[in-house]
Amino acid sequence: MGSVAVDFKNPATSSLLEVVKARRTYYDLKGESSISDDALERIVQDAVLHVPSSFNTQTSRVVLLLKEEHKKAWDIAIKAMEGLVAAGHVPKEMFENHTKPKLNSFKAAYGTVLFFVDYESLGPIKEKFAIYADKFDPFAMESSAMSQYLVWLALESEGLGANLQHYSPLVDEGIAKTWNLPASWKLDAQLVFGTPNSGPGEKTFAPLEDRFKVFGK
Ligand SMILES: Cc1cc2nc3c(=O)[nH]c(=O)nc-3n(C[C@H](O)[C@H](O)[C@H](O)COP(=O)(O)O)c2cc1C
Repeated sequence: MGSVAVDFKNPATSSLLEVVKARRTYYDLKGESSISDDALERIVQDAVLHVPSSFNTQTSRVVLLLKEEHKKAWDIAIKAMEGLVAAGHVPKEMFENHTKPKLNSFKAAYGTVLFFVDYESLGPIKEKFAIYADKFDPFAMESSAMSQYLVWLALESEGLGANLQHYSPLVDEGIAKTWNLPASWKLDAQLVFGTPNSGPGEKTFAPLEDRFKVFGK
């Protein structure tokens, strides 16, 4: 069972869903962009402004790193991993043959979007709505994930490829220090992007009928 064939009232809906289908994970990226830095900035700004958050708490914080600044982020990860190797926590061979080439491939891309959550800003609302107190942190992460997905889609729509990484807490200190970020910004994810050198890998889909139901159609 594939998705149902439909003519939408607004062609923009079809276009949106085409982008949703086209978005994939691209690891093999080069340090070029099909769009201007202003256009990249606009995509990220619109995600920060317009992606919803629970009770409109606006907990997402985002940093856009381009070119040399982007490379710094992955040098921080390489250095942090080297520290783990030196301390005997990561086998040197694994780092040299696997981890370092992977981190260098991220470094070879054009930019990285760092997604943070400011959990500390939730203090007052947790007190005000004590009954929901334990829900606000996961809601904040969900809102961050929505921002990540929106930026990923917009980059895809503009001909860029991206992959989503999670190097926190390894890189947290280096990142906060390098860009002098507020201590309350907790790093969640890193979206690496650039011009794809090659296509995405194979992707399989579990049957839709096992994952979706409709009633009352
Ligand atoms: C919440 C989430 C976390 C992910 N974390 C990572 C990650 O840490 N490293 C990575 O290489 N890919 C990560 N991915 C990418 C997934 O592996 C990928 O989206 C999935 O295999 C489907 O492939 P596609 O993106 O090409 O559709 C993550 C994706 C999601 C949605």
